[in-house]
This record gives sequence, structure tokens and C-alpha cells, in this order.
Amino acid sequence: MILRIVLGWFCVLVLICAGDGLNGSTVSLQQPRAAAAVNNVDVPVLRPPLSDARWTPVQVPGGYPMSLTAVVGAHQVKASWTYVDGLPGLNSHLDSWLLGILDAAATPSGGRYRPAMAVNASQSANPGLTVSAQPVQAAGTVIVVREKVSGTGADGTSAASSETIYADTVSGEVHRAAELLRPEALDALPARAAGVPAGIAGPAAQQPALSDVVLTPSGELHITAHRPAGGGRSDQEKATISAGDAEAMLSDMGRKMLGQLQAAESPAPATAAASPLRHVNCDLVPCAALTYDDGPDARTTPQLLAILKEKNVHATFFMTGSNAASNPAIARQVAEAGHAIGNHTFSHPYLTKLSAAGVRSEMDRTDAAIRAAVGSAPSFMRPPYGAADAAVQRAVGKPLILWAVDSLDWQSKNPAVFVPKVLKEITPGAVVLMHDVDPTTIAGQQELITNLQTQGYTLVTVPQIFEGTPLVAGHVYRSRPERR
Ligand code: NI
Repeated sequence: MILRIVLGWFCVLVLICAGDGLNGSTVSLQQPRAAAAVNNVDVPVLRPPLSDARWTPVQVPGGYPMSLTAVVGAHQVKASWTYVDGLPGLNSHLDSWLLGILDAAATPSGGRYRPAMAVNASQSANPGLTVSAQPVQAAGTVIVVREKVSGTGADGTSAASSETIYADTVSGEVHRAAELLRPEALDALPARAAGVPAGIAGPAAQQPALSDVVLTPSGELHITAHRPAGGGRSDQEKATISAGDAEAMLSDMGRKMLGQLQAAESPAPATAAASPLRHVNCDLVPCAALTYDDGPDARTTPQLLAILKEKNVHATFFMTGSNAASNPAIARQVAEAGHAIGNHTFSHPYLTKLSAAGVRSEMDRTDAAIRAAVGSAPSFMRPPYGAADAAVQRAVGKPLILWAVDSLDWQSKNPAVFVPKVLKEITPGAVVLMHDVDPTTIAGQQELITNLQTQGYTLVTVPQIFEGTPLVAGHVYRSRPERR
């Protein structure tokens, strides 16, 4: 049932779905049949594919793999996809697509998808739903991505669907395969049935919606269609249309895309190396923000930086102005590694005991010390001891980032105490408080980070965990708000 709902959502895009009883009238929802237009399209010859080359994932410049295992509704979901640095349009398209599928899977059990469903989700025996979005072609200035959904129902039946999308690395736009073809092109397909897989050139009711079409630089069309098969299987069928036949099927957008596929430039996005921080969506994957206060320290902070680098983790450092002024080179290393920096006052006082002018002075001197070290002042702050009242909130002039999980690392000075405490209390979206000035805190980081990553957490900076939530000066934040 859930499988049906998830795939039913997808069937808007791909009109071949298991068990949905699609017929000719359903196809007409996609596009009214214009009989006269058939004559405008040369009837194409469909050929079986020569190889699987156009259906195999490829590496693309700036691409990096993501995965997610979650128990959503009654299903064990396994998702894998590839973001591409410098292509926010493609990355946010993938996020929306994945969240749509996950929400559809969660709906029957009375809710929306939450990242918490992906924490420690690997040991489930539920029926599977497999979701993937991988590049299958990179040519000219275009990256072609195939999105696939396949699932097994509780009754053992299976179904699958797929679609290709086209990301233009110059304009940043994302187009669906269907936009590349004239609506009339579909009508010409079943006319040449000989030697062609039945699902592609069969009765009109089983025509592909031309949602999964790879247009190659040579102008060929490689089509994939899915149809239910006996024995709980779902068959995938493929065909190729030659460049000569394909030419008349292309829309204006299709011809434009063909030109870009043939462009001499590389598809490498120009901004790929601009930031060490890569796109992550904390509504999709479970995130946590590790934060380290009171440094930078000449001895312990470099040790922590080495661990974070080894674990491929970005974190946030709330520096005091006095320590940033004493250790500017270390502050610079923190910034250059891609970590975020917050203002933690100059001399670490209780701000609630200072006048507004005193609070401003603590903030300004710290901004100046950090700016001198790293080139820019922090855009957010954390009051020492978490001590803030309405007057302090007004005076600091920045968003106040507190925490959802207090490690109390300074109190126990013992990884065997604070690591289990954090692991027990953490939830997706949490900001975690620690201190990078104590060797015992550093001693627990390998174990803490390894455990969090094993549980499914992606560890991100404070700006990343609040992405999409405007941080307002004077307001207090402890964890990422849930998606509404
Ligand atoms: Ni502090």
C-alpha cells in the first residue's frame, strides 16, 4: 500500500507503474492526442540499445556521493545520490525530489519524514524502497542525472520508475527530459514495433511517457521504460532512437540542450572550489553541530583541527577575543579549514553583570581581534555560561547561539563520561557544547565523532545547521527548527 502511494506520486512523472492499471485514457492526461501532428514527426526507428553505457553512473567534476538509510512508515528506505559542487539548482532539485518521496512514504503512518528516522536505521527488516539519483552523462555544459525509485511491497510485488533530468552548468537551470521532446513525438513511437521491446513500442497504453530519456551529444535518444512483470518483478526496457530520427522529435528546448551537450567547454562548474563546505540538507539527513568554546588554544586547538580534518568534519569555534588576539595564526587555520567562528566575548565575563556599554565593548573588541586574525568578524555569538537576559540580548547585536546538548566536558574532564552523555542526549538538529581548551575534551573527539557518524549523523557548522532559518540579532537559537 505504501509502496503504491510512493510510486503513485512518482507516476505523475512516469506513466508506467506496477499495478496501477494505467490505460490509454491515463496517457491522454499527459498530453491530448493531436492526430494531425503525427504527420509532422517522422516515424522513428527504435533499436535495442547496443550497450548499457548510457545507463551506467559516471563521475562528474565536483560530484560527491550522499546516502541515507531510514525507516520511513513501513519501509526501509535506502537512498543514494550525488550532489555537484557549484550547482545549487541541481542540489536543491534533488533535495525536493527526495523529500517528496520520503514524505509520501511517511504519510500513511501519520506524519512527514523527519531526519530522526535515519538515525540508527540500518537494522530493519521492513520492505525495501530504493531511491537513487546519479549522473549518467556529463558532456559540454550539461550534466544528465537519472532519478530512480524501486520498491518491494509487503506482498512481495515490486515496481520501479525512473526519470532523467538535465542540469545546465552555465545557467544553473534544471530541466526534465520531457521538456526536450515535442509532445507529438510520443504518438510516433508505437508505429515501428518490429524488433523493439514491447514496453516501449507496445500498445498505446504502455508507451513510455518519455520521462527517462538520455539525449547524447551525437543526438541519439536512449529511452528507458518500466512495466510490471509476472512473479513480483518489474521489467526495465531500453531502446535507442538514431540521431536522424531523433532530430524531428526535439522541442526548442531539446535543440538548445543538444547544442550545449556539444559545447566545447567542460561541465565543471566554475565555483566548484569556492568553499570547502559542501551542500548538505539538514531536513533530509540527520545533522548535528559540534561547537568548541573558549579557544583558540596554542596546544589543543591544532590537535582538534587534525582530528576534524581526518574525520572530514566541519565544526564551529566560539573564540574569545583575548585568545584570538594571542593566537591569530591558529584562528586563521580554523577559518581556512572551513570551520565557522563565533564571538564568545573578549574576557569571558557574565554579560548579565555588565552595562549595555560594557557588553558592547566585549563584543566589539572580540570582533576586532577575530577580524584581525581571519579577515572578517563573526556574524553570531555565544554568551559565556549561556548567561543572557533581555538587556544582554539587545546589547550583543548578533544572534545568540546556545546549545541543545551540554557535554559538561569541563566538569567531568573524562571522555568516558561526556562522550556517552552526548550520544544519549543528541537528536537531529542539535547544537552540542564542548570546549577546545582542555586536553581531555580533545581525547574524546575521535570516539564521539566516530559514533555519531556511525549513527548516521552528518556533522556541520552552525550556519549550515540553521540554513534556511534566518538568524536574527538578539534572538536565541539552540537547535534547527523542524521543517514545516
Ligand atoms: Ni565559555
